[in-house]
Parts: sequence; C-alpha cells; structure tokens
Amino acid sequence: MSTPQIHLSVQGSRLCERIQALAQVGALKGGGVCRLALTPADKAGRDLVISWMTELGLSVSVDRIGNIMGLRAGHVDAPPVFIGSHIDTVATGGAYDGNLGVLAGLEVLQCLAEAGIETELPIAVAIFTNEEGARFAPDMMGSGVHQGSLDLEEMLAVEGIDGTTVGADLEAIGYAGESPCGSQRASAFIELHVEQGPLLEEEGFMIGAVEGVQGISWTEFLWSGVSNHAGTTPMRLRHDAGYAAADLACFVRDLALDHGGDQVATVGSVQLQPNLVNVIANQARMTVDLRNTDDQVLKRVERQTLEYAKSLADHEGLELETRILARFAPVAFSQRLIGLVEKHATDLGHSVRRMPSGAGHDAQMFAPNCPSTMIFVPSKGGISHNIHEYTAPEEIQAGGDVLLRMVLALAGVRSTG
Ligand code: GLV
Ligand code: MN
Ligand code: MN
Repeated sequence: MSTPQIHLSVQGSRLCERIQALAQVGALKGGGVCRLALTPADKAGRDLVISWMTELGLSVSVDRIGNIMGLRAGHVDAPPVFIGSHIDTVATGGAYDGNLGVLAGLEVLQCLAEAGIETELPIAVAIFTNEEGARFAPDMMGSGVHQGSLDLEEMLAVEGIDGTTVGADLEAIGYAGESPCGSQRASAFIELHVEQGPLLEEEGFMIGAVEGVQGISWTEFLWSGVSNHAGTTPMRLRHDAGYAAADLACFVRDLALDHGGDQVATVGSVQLQPNLVNVIANQARMTVDLRNTDDQVLKRVERQTLEYAKSLADHEGLELETRILARFAPVAFSQRLIGLVEKHATDLGHSVRRMPSGAGHDAQMFAPNCPSTMIFVPSKGGISHNIHEYTAPEEIQAGGDVLLRMVLALAGVRSTG
C-alpha cells in the first residue's frame, strides 16, 4: 500500500469552530458543557454531528447500543480504519474531552475530500455511546459492546443514576439503532484526545504518543445502619453509615499515597440518607475509583479497600453491600502505531513523548482486537472533567495534523498512476 509524501494540513480553525458549535449543545451557564449520555442534550449533540457527517457525504449508521458510524468508502473491500471517540460529557465537562477526537476525524475526512485524495481502505469516524460512565456505569460502554467485551443485553439493562435504563433512554432519544454491534470490524483504531493531565504542558511537549491505559476499578459501597437523634444518641450506641463512608474515603486516599507510583484513588460520589443535619445517617452510598498501570497492585489495593470497608461495617454494626460498576485491566497499545505517532509528530516538527493514559478511552476497547493507539495534545493546567478544560488552537492543529498523517499511513493513499 503506497503512502506518498503528501503535504496536507487540517483546517484547525474549522475544527475549532465545530468544537465550539458542539459545545453550545448542553452549554452550562458560566461555561462548560453538560451532555450526559442518552439525555436530550446528548441527542441534540448527536443530531448536530450527524448533520455534519451527512454534509460530508458519509454513510451513517447507528447500532443497537447507539454507536454512530460515518463511513467513507475506500478502494479495497476491507475493514475500515476507525477514528473514534465520544461526545457525551460528565455533568460539569468541557468542550474537548472526546469531542476533539470525533470532530478531528470529520476534519480529516473533509480535508481528504477537498484534496481529492482517495484511500485504499475505508475510513470510519465513530461516536461511541456513554464513554464517560457518569450516568450509566461502566464507562466505555458503546466501544466495549462494539468490541465484544461487554454484553449488549446486559448493558441495555443497566440502570443509571436517574433510575432509567440504557435501553429505555436509547429508545427515548431515538438512537436505539438497528445495525448489529461490531458487525463492522476495524483494521486499526486511532483516537486523538486531550491529555486531561499536566505532563505535556509541564514538560513542554506538543504531542503524546500514548503507550496504553491504566487499569480502572469502580466499586459502589452501600452501608445500612440506623437513623437516630444526633443529640441524644451516645457515641457507643450509634450505627452511623455516614461515619463508615467518611472513614473509607480517608482510607483509600492514604492507601494510594502509601502505594505511591501510579496508584490513584477517588471518592467522587457520596449520598447519605436522610441527609439532614441532626439525624444520624442510616444509609451511605459511595463510589470508589481506583486506578493503576500495574494490575497486580490494583488488585491488592481493591482487596485492602474491601477488607477495610467490611471492618468498618463490623465495628459500627452496619450492613454492607458492594457492587462492581466497572473493571478494566490495563491495556497496552500497538508498538508499531505508537512509533508511527512519534514519527509523524517529529516529521511535522512537533516535540513528542511517550506516555500512559490516566483516563479511560474507547481506544482501549479496540486494542485487544486491532492495532490501536492514541494521540494526546496538552490540557491547560492539566484540567479536565471541569468546565475550564482548554486546549489551544495551535495544539489542536498539531494533533489534527498528526491524526491526518496517521490515517493516511494506515488507510493507504490510492495511487493515481
Ligand atoms: C473517563 O473519562 C474516565 O477515565 O473516567
Ligand atoms: Mn474522553
Ligand atoms: Mn472524560
């Protein structure tokens, strides 16, 4: 397959305009975006991006878990090169997480169309359902079902934080598609994403060549105790679920610090019942997010966390129920593709470093099944999952150009000679 020297560039300004236009959908007062998966705002975002796919002449399909694919034909009847990411956001998200990867994919295809470049392999731009997992756990749901590591029927039955199911909400927003999940295999997968961490900016690099994604473990802990009067109940007679949650939150933070290295621990959601100033909580529901690049260490930290949660229940006289919300082992990306990202970034004059990803991504679900990797661009102040998430236009241009070259290398330019 030939890949002649082609001096093409994406139109960064057009890409930035689309990012800002999509950020208006679900825009929060005061900045940022709330487009939680399968909400009316997610539907409006999907509708907008599909209108751009249609303008570009892509053939658009939606599968049963709501993944959207815009396909550009190639000359060879073979699985497409996938450019994929997501457009759902956390409730207090920014404009770039996920959206950059999808819209940069469209920009690459528009650029190829305008330059009259045809490729040997087809190219697909994919939007995966519920990458964030903020409303329905687990994260990477659409890409996981697409690649067969999550079960479709189980995922359709998942109940989210609003009490509705994935299946019902897909129907409600009109994105319960008909294509079988994963019927379109991928010859390679490439995702451009903002780093969402501080390293590129701190160390002065423009591009991250992503080597893999760390393991992710999400567990919900639910302690049940007894409500009682805050003033009259002696400390020795309490069955205080709120106390257990508070203690475990401190425990996992210390555990992560003690392990050091890559280990991180986050308590992102705590709900107390009845949640009143003068009533001992009879119920505490809390999530713990643990991540590490080393699965053995992650397993040990999971075990220690569970043991401590149980010991708290025993000491305080509480019932404990636990539920695994997400568990993904660490993933290594293709050495060949990582090397290609380094090569193309260097050829374009950009500084590049290899790095792991701290966040979960759709690319990790493809990695076991086809050559996959990611391109990172800097996140200002290392901030993400925050309304102030920002990546500068020149960084978007750089990432878009590396993506364009990766796609040309992977899909192969159709020689006209
Ligand atoms: C997804 O953004 C995650 O890493 O939690
Ligand atoms: Mn993302
Ligand atoms: Mn995210």
